[in-house]
Amino acid sequence: MSKKKKTRYQDYVIKDGRLVGRFEEMYRDHTDPWHQSSREIFSSEKAVGINLIQRLQRNMYIQKAVELGCGFGEYTARIARTGLQTHGLDISETAIAKARERHAGMLSTGRLNFSVARFDDFDFLASYKPDIIVMPEITWYVLDDLAGFIQFLKEKLPDTFLLHMLMTYELGVQAYGKNYFTNLEEILLFFNMKYLESGKVNLITGGSRTWFLGTNNEQYYQKWLKEAEQ
Ligand SMILES: C[S@@+](CC[C@H](N)C(=O)[O-])C[C@H]1O[C@@H](n2cnc3c(N)ncnc32)[C@H](O)[C@@H]1O
Repeated sequence: MSKKKKTRYQDYVIKDGRLVGRFEEMYRDHTDPWHQSSREIFSSEKAVGINLIQRLQRNMYIQKAVELGCGFGEYTARIARTGLQTHGLDISETAIAKARERHAGMLSTGRLNFSVARFDDFDFLASYKPDIIVMPEITWYVLDDLAGFIQFLKEKLPDTFLLHMLMTYELGVQAYGKNYFTNLEEILLFFNMKYLESGKVNLITGGSRTWFLGTNNEQYYQKWLKEAEQ
């Protein structure tokens, strides 16, 4: 009898240039999608992100962070270890249950929390008032809701920094989301913030891991600029 072939984790997410978005099913069927626990934790832009968070702690006195699309919470826990009060959100119940299990020790300190929620849970975000929102590798899955999220940040959380990270693909490889952006420069144009830093890491397998740290607060921008010029 032939055994049914397991669907690749990628096919639950985006297939044939279209968003599938079956994240909960994917987490039930696969133990480490995106190699979150084995490879992703070593991605270079994530280390840059921690460095930027620590700089913001020292220079801008940030205290509270939210990670959107936190998956198993590996990065959320790293952010919490910098000393920030940190809350991870993910749409998948299974991912959040595993995040709670894996980081039970830190949860008990009260410095780290996880919730099942959409990235654009504006009620939660407005009441939690994070000093920084961290958005690693979720943007391709929320493209149609991105403009509303950017508007919400400008209007309701103008003092909140945004640390954004996203894989981009070489020309001719990307099939989905090309009408939004295809590289770092286009991502920066789309988010239309004041940028304190941005950059990318080019991968041996092709494509780049991009990041930016943005603000909508002119005073924060000027303060960062002044310190950088000293
Ligand atoms: C590529 S994983 C990134 C995990 C983690 N941030 C990291 O960088 O290792 C993308 C995550 O986004 C979550 N996600 C997708 N759409 C979402 C939405 N609309 N709201 C909240 N989470 C979402 C998925 O469940 C998945 O855990």
